[in-house]
Amino acid sequence: MNDLGPSSPLVPPLFQSSVYCLPDLDALDRVIEGEEAGFIYARDGHPNAQRLAERLAGLEGAGWAVVCGSGMAAVSAAVLSTVQQGDGIVASNRLYGRTTQLFLQELSRFGVTTTLTDTTDLAQVEQALRSGAKLLFVETLSNPLLRLADVPALARLAHERGSLLVVDNTFATPCLCRPLEQGADVVIESLTKMIGGHGDITLGVLCGGHEGLDDEQSSVTREQTAPVVSIWGLSSPPFDCWLAERSLDTLPLRVRAACDNAQALADWLAEQRSVRQVIYPGRPDHPDHVIAGRLFDGAAGDRPLYGNMLCFELVGDREGVNRFMRLATGIPFSPSLGNTTTTCSHPGTTSHRYVSPAERKRQGIGDGMIRLSVGVEELGLIQAEIAKGL
Ligand SMILES: Cc1ncc(COP(=O)(O)O)c(C=O)c1O
Repeated sequence: MNDLGPSSPLVPPLFQSSVYCLPDLDALDRVIEGEEAGFIYARDGHPNAQRLAERLAGLEGAGWAVVCGSGMAAVSAAVLSTVQQGDGIVASNRLYGRTTQLFLQELSRFGVTTTLTDTTDLAQVEQALRSGAKLLFVETLSNPLLRLADVPALARLAHERGSLLVVDNTFATPCLCRPLEQGADVVIESLTKMIGGHGDITLGVLCGGHEGLDDEQSSVTREQTAPVVSIWGLSSPPFDCWLAERSLDTLPLRVRAACDNAQALADWLAEQRSVRQVIYPGRPDHPDHVIAGRLFDGAAGDRPLYGNMLCFELVGDREGVNRFMRLATGIPFSPSLGNTTTTCSHPGTTSHRYVSPAERKRQGIGDGMIRLSVGVEELGLIQAEIAKGL
């Protein structure tokens, strides 16, 4: 190491090393036994992941956080550290496609069965949990229709039946909603999206416990999950963690600006002739508007924020969407979300491509539906660009 004298870097250093050196066997023993801080092998832990995890735990009100190599790695880690062969899972029937595939295609190979249900209907959830499921899995805001999970009510139902509630909070971020404080046992975020925020990393995190609570008092412990992340190879690379930590400094600002833009755009789009419908929880015509106001009281403090995601349906169906994309070139078609700049996607051919047409129809995902991930640009610039496409 260079001797920096009394100086220290303002920005945390990047520890781009896959392995660490130790002075002797006794030091190695002390690090492994947790008697002294230190690192050995980056897949087991490294300083950039540890710093990021500590800051994310603070944001979520969690007792612990473990950073993983992607949002899906975090989902996998949550399941792999809690579920045994023969267990059941009850999951929302509106989850991110890869999560549904994990439950139905992958976990079924290991003797874990999943029941999909409409988790906006508490009576259905209660019925499904009667079979004695180990986990109830929901997303705070579903993709793409932005239906809300009533986390406090779902937590009560899950705990009455001895199940754990796992919440994927990616669309909401801890700025809108802190599910652990509302009763969830584990929270997952894909840091690839709004938390990373610049479209340049792939990471995830899972968190549990509560601030100030000892690990062993948590319903799901760090001790239970951290080895699973290393053993299954779900760990995170240092450079992505370093970039994610940079992103945390602007997260509340970005979320607030993007949510304000999304609310204004949703109201403006609803008045456009070529738009059949607008789906945004901040509008009174959204089925979960009232619940959203109750649960999303996070970042702004004085008022709820309703997220940066919205959907609108063009009258021109699929061809209308193609025309929109070719004309509104300043709103790139890029099937992800949460960047500083506004992007669009088409659920019918991306996230829900492998969902049957009948199921898409049942959920109300039409061929003319565009999903916007609203960024932090000046509102007028986004409107002008969308107007070109309309
Ligand atoms: C709600 C949700 N959860 C999890 C994921 C997976 O995250 P990642 O792409 O970082 O694996 C995504 C990805 O789009 C998502 O939308």
